[in-house]
Amino acid sequence: MVIFLLRGIVGYAQRYLGAKLEEGIIKEIRDKLYTRIHALPLSYFVKEHSGHLIARATSDVDGIRRGIKDGFLPIIRETMLILVYGGIAIYLSPMLFLYTVAIFLPIFLIIQRLSMKLRHESERVQNRMAKVTRALSETFGGIKVIKAYAAEAEDKRRFDKLTLAHMRTMLKFERLSLIGTPLAEFMFALAIAVMLILGAYAIFIKHVLTASEFILFIGAIVALVQPVRNIAQANSLLQRAINVTDRVYRVMELPCERTHGGIPLGGLKECIVFDNVHFAYDTEYVLVGVSFSIHKGEKIAIIGTSGVGKTTIVDLLLGFYEPTHGRIIVDGYDLREIDLRSWRKRIGVVTQEPILFNTSIIENIALGEPTVDIKRVKRAAMLAHADEFISKLPDGYNTVIGERGITLSGGERQRLALARAIYKEPEILILDEVTAYLDRESAQKIEAALEEVLKGRTALIITHDESTLKLVDRVLELRDGRIYSI
Ligand SMILES: Nc1ncnc2c1ncn2[C@@H]1O[C@H](COP(=O)(O)OP(=O)(O)OP(=O)(O)O)[C@@H](O)[C@H]1O
Ligand SMILES: [Mg+2]
Repeated sequence: MVIFLLRGIVGYAQRYLGAKLEEGIIKEIRDKLYTRIHALPLSYFVKEHSGHLIARATSDVDGIRRGIKDGFLPIIRETMLILVYGGIAIYLSPMLFLYTVAIFLPIFLIIQRLSMKLRHESERVQNRMAKVTRALSETFGGIKVIKAYAAEAEDKRRFDKLTLAHMRTMLKFERLSLIGTPLAEFMFALAIAVMLILGAYAIFIKHVLTASEFILFIGAIVALVQPVRNIAQANSLLQRAINVTDRVYRVMELPCERTHGGIPLGGLKECIVFDNVHFAYDTEYVLVGVSFSIHKGEKIAIIGTSGVGKTTIVDLLLGFYEPTHGRIIVDGYDLREIDLRSWRKRIGVVTQEPILFNTSIIENIALGEPTVDIKRVKRAAMLAHADEFISKLPDGYNTVIGERGITLSGGERQRLALARAIYKEPEILILDEVTAYLDRESAQKIEAALEEVLKGRTALIITHDESTLKLVDRVLELRDGRIYSI
């Protein structure tokens, strides 16, 4: 009884500790990956689909764990067995063992080839799954439009195609992995038959082996079959794991944004200069020689038709992209040499599309601050004219606003984003069409607030609003990729 109890406890402790170690490693990999994802340049997120990165951090990391548990460890265990049985066989008859290897080697090579194919298929399965994930997240993001345009059937068809493609590749993968084991078995049986003939030759014609030794030899070889079979199975898991590990590490090795290192910026002392800045996202130039400067404390507005490159200028200024030619100079330093984090800490930005998180209003406003000053949050919300609607929410400032702020109106989101920029009390304020979503009355309120907010700050404002234009010192127009003074 006691022994059973002890055995149970020890077994539990062993397994639990094993699982804890395993999960610990997996968590570590996931967290590392997350840090890495934060460090990737914006261009990566624009080009790559989020499904890819999500698959890396979820199913791929899980694949690594399975590979270690059901692939790597069994292979080690089975290899030990193979060494023991192989050792016995060699001891009995080295010559016959050589023949055995000669017969089994081609089998091994065939299995090896099969594994390579499996690995390839597994990658395809993963890619197809990423497409399914992506379609799902797109549907969630765009559900309003899908419903409004009665595009459900079309969307469903698109999704069906993806799941069908995934199923087909998955089946192909399964077929291959299912073929592996019986094929190996068949080849082993064939090999054993050849062995028997060879054995008979050695015993009765050459007289180099006794019958009992041969039986022992065959016993050792037969005992080898199971471990080799297990290895074939574990191998397919390991191949998958190698595959996904490779992909996870490919993300880890992607070039990072240079956010750390470089010259730390203490604060804007003189001016920001765009010096003959050219920029192309791909091959077509959006900006062809943009030159202007913003002095400390100056407020500049940029106007220009839609798609002319105004938001691009903002993104360049934030260091999301680097100019293709020309330079952006801050207090005499090229932005490329400046520590980007220290630079971005100086800037409060309201992006054209307000970006909110599925957390409370407070956390949304005090984004990136480890300690929250509630008074400051309220003051910022007041200035942004967000306080009125926030206090009407069920939990006030503690209301959780849903994914992408889906429970708020466009104008409310915009005002919340503005409150966030104000809370940061930044030296430099960048506003990209903040009043675009607002009615005349709300826009006027914000403009009145802006006058207050802009005091003592350096600002770059993108707007078409006549009354906002009155708040700035200079208006520049972006036309045909160049800046003109107005
Ligand atoms: N990530 C991107 N990859 C490729 N092209 C892009 C990317 N972002 C923007 N563009 C293109 O660059 C051009 C300038 O875009 P930008 O967003 O800067 O215009 P904008 O002046 O801010 O327009 P709007 O007034 O409509 O906001 C557009 O032709 C746009 O299609
Ligand atoms: Mg824009």
